[in-house]
Amino acid sequence: MVQEVTKPPAPPDTVTLTINEREVTVPKGTLLVEAAKSAGIDIPVFCYEPRLAPVGACRMCLVEIEKMPRLQTACTTPVADGMIVRTNTEKPRAAQSDVLGMLLANHPLDCPVCDKGGECPLQDTTFNYGPGISKFIEPKRTFPKPIPLSPLIALDRERCIMCYRCVRFQREIPGDEALTVIDRGSHSEIAVTEGRDFNSPFSGNTIELCPVGALTSIPFRFRARPWDLTKVPSICDQCSVGCNLNVEYRNNTVLRLTSHANPPVDDGWLCDHGRFTYDYINDKARLTTPLIRRDGKLSTATWDEALDLVARRFSELSSVGGVISARATNEELYLFGKLFRTALKGGATDYAPRSAPAVGPFGVDALHGSIAALEKMKTIIILGVDPLHDQPVVNLRLRKAAKNGARIIIATPTPNDLDQVAAHVLRVPDNALPTLAASWINLIAGEQLYDREYIEQRTAGLRAATERLAPFTLDRAANETGLDRAQIEAVGRALVGNGPTALLFGRKQAAQPQPGDQAILNNLGLLIGATNDAGVFGGLVTEANEQGAIDLGVAPANGGALLGGQVPSALYLVGVDLHSTGQTALLNDLEFLVVQDLTLTATAEQADVVFPAVSFAEKDGTLTNLERRVQRLRPAIHPPGEARPDWRVIRDIGKRLAPADFAQPSPLTVWQELAGAVPAYGQLNYATISNGGQQWSLPTVGDGNGGGRFSFHADDMESGSTR
Ligand code: SF4
Ligand code: FES
Repeated sequence: MVQEVTKPPAPPDTVTLTINEREVTVPKGTLLVEAAKSAGIDIPVFCYEPRLAPVGACRMCLVEIEKMPRLQTACTTPVADGMIVRTNTEKPRAAQSDVLGMLLANHPLDCPVCDKGGECPLQDTTFNYGPGISKFIEPKRTFPKPIPLSPLIALDRERCIMCYRCVRFQREIPGDEALTVIDRGSHSEIAVTEGRDFNSPFSGNTIELCPVGALTSIPFRFRARPWDLTKVPSICDQCSVGCNLNVEYRNNTVLRLTSHANPPVDDGWLCDHGRFTYDYINDKARLTTPLIRRDGKLSTATWDEALDLVARRFSELSSVGGVISARATNEELYLFGKLFRTALKGGATDYAPRSAPAVGPFGVDALHGSIAALEKMKTIIILGVDPLHDQPVVNLRLRKAAKNGARIIIATPTPNDLDQVAAHVLRVPDNALPTLAASWINLIAGEQLYDREYIEQRTAGLRAATERLAPFTLDRAANETGLDRAQIEAVGRALVGNGPTALLFGRKQAAQPQPGDQAILNNLGLLIGATNDAGVFGGLVTEANEQGAIDLGVAPANGGALLGGQVPSALYLVGVDLHSTGQTALLNDLEFLVVQDLTLTATAEQADVVFPAVSFAEKDGTLTNLERRVQRLRPAIHPPGEARPDWRVIRDIGKRLAPADFAQPSPLTVWQELAGAVPAYGQLNYATISNGGQQWSLPTVGDGNGGGRFSFHADDMESGSTR
């Protein structure tokens, strides 16, 4: 008996088409080029880039579609049910070859001296699809070379193939018109828009987007060929976003940092600060040996001499305090905390820079939601912060959210990059933000504009909270902010009822000058739904591992001032230069100062012992970004001289004081100990975080009775005054 095989129906909202005789099912609206990619079929492209709107400029992606008279561009054609497409028959092959022939008519054959040589899409596509021989004998178009578009980026105009990726990136992603096209036809060229500078904080992305060597990095130009470089994937440590990058080095020297896309975190972008900050790693002034102060002068010592001296002095002195960099790895933060808790008998620790108390009034002080979730929001409220400055690549995600239709509401003291895309902009002095937020709570609670079902599970504290805030009326907010009452009211109404909502603020705004402000933000977040499963809510940290430092309890819970204002008799600074942060009061009257750093900073010059430390490109460990994502740093190059990673130095001091507690042979073993001690981190391990990192999970939202992580707070804001 012949059994009839019925094909399962295609899922809804999909279409099925045939590409090169292969059946492909993809979501409706997919572009042909992406449908082919999903089936492992390569269609050559130049101007197409999935993160930019398609323009169909280069004609490289021409394909044959049955029942269509002419070849079509696969990068602008959406799929249709039953479509029959061929990419490799005579007609498209001839078209692909012709397009390449035209592009090469003017493109110089200077691949041996072009920085893009070896990683050039034009070179690769020509090998795969191009004509073996040029039809052109005319002289090529030439230009004086190159033009610096900025101190970081050079343009070799004759190499440009006019794909407009650079112009489109600047316009669509950071949202500026810094680059443009001047002149027409074969005279067209890319240029900086008249009257402007190409000083975009994201300009370096155009180097990677340019499919030829027209845009190149000035710091990297002619320093190495791509095949000479070794690439090690790692994490940028310049801010709390934790963008993924490749450390690329040759002869143990870091020569460039390039994007290593981790879409949930960075969408494949880097900011210029992250991309171009690496010279310090190769600095000839890096410390290479430990130093000990002898006869008033710092002089070279062996590691054993320096470690023995530090361990002896720490155990002799009555109080030892420690401050560690908020860029240190979780493993280093953990060992540092352990050193003080155990071997140094409870000396105070802190991290720096730190702009607010380490722990807020919530059970867990970390972002609710994720960076990627921001692009699904319908409403985003930004209170008092400027992500372009402090979390630049998150700013790009917020712009993307605006493009997806999110209503952005900005309430900040100074102009903000997102003003351009905001539905409402309120200029509010920092100290009036709590009153503004409280007036919105009154409005939303008073008129019950909130999601009843969600809030009714948490009503235990709502009445008390709103009674307490009753004096913070819209009139009072208008008075304190200098804004129009009707405007405040209109924005308050716009905060609710529109779908998934995010409320983002700064840890500083949340916690200073008194903790009450943060409870208000918590209450507002609850009322507008930013704390529910679909929302995003939280105070944004700014440093690369500030979240890790909070999670691992390195800072005093009460502290505004460093070390909670305590002045110890000895101080251990890891990666912290108190002169650069103006916190030199801590250095007065110290009996013993130990500094661990890359170079002899102003603070290190005052130290009794200096340990040579290593950069992020030279060590192993993990960092936790602003959305609780733990990601892995990997060592790329060897540190100079005898420099050692911070975790090892801390461990070796510990080993001299409490040998059984400080026997960890590697960052991995420190992680395993840490994961056993810190429940949130117990869910993760080096294997699960190795590919893209992993967010540690927040506790469940509430117990339905005003408890749990988010619940109404009533007792923080004095009814008479916000100050
Ligand atoms: Fe395209 Fe590069 Fe020319 Fe810009 S400079 S249009 S990215 S080829
Ligand atoms: Fe399709 Fe350029 S890649 S037209």
